[in-house]
Order: sequence, then structure tokens, then C-alpha cells
Amino acid sequence: MRILSGIQPSGVLHIGNYFGMMRPAIVLQAEGEALYFIADYHALTSLRAPAALRENSRRVALDFLACGLDPARAALFRQSDVPQVTELAWILSTVTPKGLLERAHSYKDKVARGLAASAGLFSYPVLMAADILIYDSDVVPVGRDQKQHVEVTRDLAIKMNETFGEILKLPEPRIHAQTATVPGLDGQKMSKSYGNTIDIFAEENEMRKRVMSIVTDSTPVEAPKNPDASPICQLFSLVASPEETAALRAAFAKGGSGYGDFKKQLFVRLWEFFAPMRQRRNEILAQPDYIDAVLAQGAARANAIADGVMARVRTAVGLR
Ligand code: TYM
Repeated sequence: MRILSGIQPSGVLHIGNYFGMMRPAIVLQAEGEALYFIADYHALTSLRAPAALRENSRRVALDFLACGLDPARAALFRQSDVPQVTELAWILSTVTPKGLLERAHSYKDKVARGLAASAGLFSYPVLMAADILIYDSDVVPVGRDQKQHVEVTRDLAIKMNETFGEILKLPEPRIHAQTATVPGLDGQKMSKSYGNTIDIFAEENEMRKRVMSIVTDSTPVEAPKNPDASPICQLFSLVASPEETAALRAAFAKGGSGYGDFKKQLFVRLWEFFAPMRQRRNEILAQPDYIDAVLAQGAARANAIADGVMARVRTAVGLR
């Protein structure tokens, strides 16, 4: 089984990225051949600051390694270290119905939020399909917001196979119900672009401040509270045991405690949960060449697979 996923270096990683994709990806690295990449070509659709793109890409590598990606099991590389992927994206784009891209939620959301409606943003799902198909991927661990993109990938693989013969493998998304959409401070999906994130490696005071700013209603301290009216309980369940989560939900329903108390409990749990990752991160930072070595080794592995698939595709479509 080959497992593949990507993450954009458009900002700093948050706990939605962690629970939605990074943790499942880290668990899966023990179950097959894993390839995880930093989607820097994709990030160009929203980030036009070369120094920031470079810096964020390194930081994503560092943070992913700190969270438990094991380079002995999983290849970690930059998308742009496998430039063949843009060639496959072009070939796929020639069989991509324009209407399929017009129906993409992610494109419509991003344009609604003010991102430039560039051709790159529009054809983002085609490049993502190429990312997946160029490695003959079987399983793609992602959050729910990427589900439609994996469906587009399958559609394009089917179209290619119908047109040119069985050349591409159909991937399956892997989405876990409990972590498919991690809520942000305001209860919407946690996302950098909504400004509602809790960053995995935020400083202690910053993380506390973010948690304390979770949006709640004005139910008085003594009154019972709906555990599902704010994201507190859902976030707590990610970092605490089921029994502890049940106890917190019971305390909500009972009344007599304020939201501030619950937020403090959530902060303590979150801070403890990521403590081993912070320690590992400091260890990696003490080895200046480690990240470059990991990325180079990952790129070599990814290129070897991509070259094989591209040779097959070029021959099938008549470019060779
Ligand atoms: P990106 O960079 O937006 O997010 C990386 C991963 O984190 C997941 N995620 C979440 N999961 C649950 N709750 C949330 N609040 C949350 N926020 C983010 C995303 O679902 C994603 O899995 N297009 C992709 C990057 C990409 C890719 C690929 C992924 C490019 N090529 C090929 C898989 C395969 C993206 O923008 O993810």
C-alpha cells in the first residue's frame, strides 16, 4: 500500500492540520510506503513572498518531523523537488472538463474570500490530482475539506484510463470522522485564512491567549451550559481520554462553572499533549543539517517513483 499526502506551506501549522492529516499520516507510515510532501507549488496560489515561502517550507518540514514523521519509514520532500508533477498536471488538464473545476468548493470559497482568481487557483485540483497519481498512490489521508479534490483526482484518473488505457491507479481518501473537521476558535473549520487557529508550536502565552479567546455565549456561571454550543468540548476530546471528556461534558450540563474554567482545563491539556513534540523539535533544531538531509533523501525516493509513472504516461499518450 502506498500512502501519500501533502500540506501547503502557506503559514504555520495548526492543530486542525495535526489532527486532520498529520497524525493519521504518521500512524499510516507504519502500514505501508508513505510519501508526504510540502505543497510549495500550491502555496504560490496564495503566497507571493519568496522569503516567506522558503522559510515556511522548512518550518513545515521541521514541525512534521517534530510531530513524529519518521524519515526511515516515510519520504518527506518538497513538491517542487519533483517538477515532473507539473508535466503530469498539464497532461491531465487536457482531459479535465472545465465544469468539474467550476464546481470545486475550495476554489469558490477562496475567491469569495478575496484571493485572486488566477488560472493557477482555478486548476489547483488538477495539480493536486497529479501529486497523487504520479506516485501510484493507494491511500490519501486528508481532512474533509480535501475530499472533493480526491474525488476530482479519481475522475481524472478514470478519464485518462478510458482515453489512453489503464495507466493510472485510483486512490482512496482516508478521512476519520472525529477529526475530519477540527473547529477553530469561532466554531467554524480551523483555518489560517479564518484567523481562528491554535498553532501547534505557539509559545505558551500565545497558546493560552488563543484558547481563552474561544467564542462562547453569555450563559451565566451558575447556569447549565450546552457542551456543543462552543468548540471547547470537541477540542478537549482530541487531547483527553473519553472519560475525561465525559466528565467535562457533565460539568457543562451541571452549571456552576464558567467558560473560563473550562478553557483553562483545555489549555492545560493541549499544552501537555504537545510537550513531547516541542522537545523533539528542539532536538531537531540542534542538528542544523538534519532537515536538508531528510528532504534530499525524500526527494530522491519520490523522483524514482515519479520517473517510472511518467515514462508510462508519456508512452501511453504518444509523447514517446
Ligand atoms: P492544507 O495545506 O490546507 O491542509 C493540510 C491538511 O490538513 C487538513 N486540515 C484539516 N483537517 C481537519 N480540520 C481542519 N480544521 C483542517 N484544516 C486543514 C487538510 O484537510 C489537509 O489534509 N490541497 C491540500 C494540499 C495538497 C494535497 C495534495 C493533499 C496538495 N496536493 C495531494 C493531499 C494530496 C491543502 O491545501 O491542504
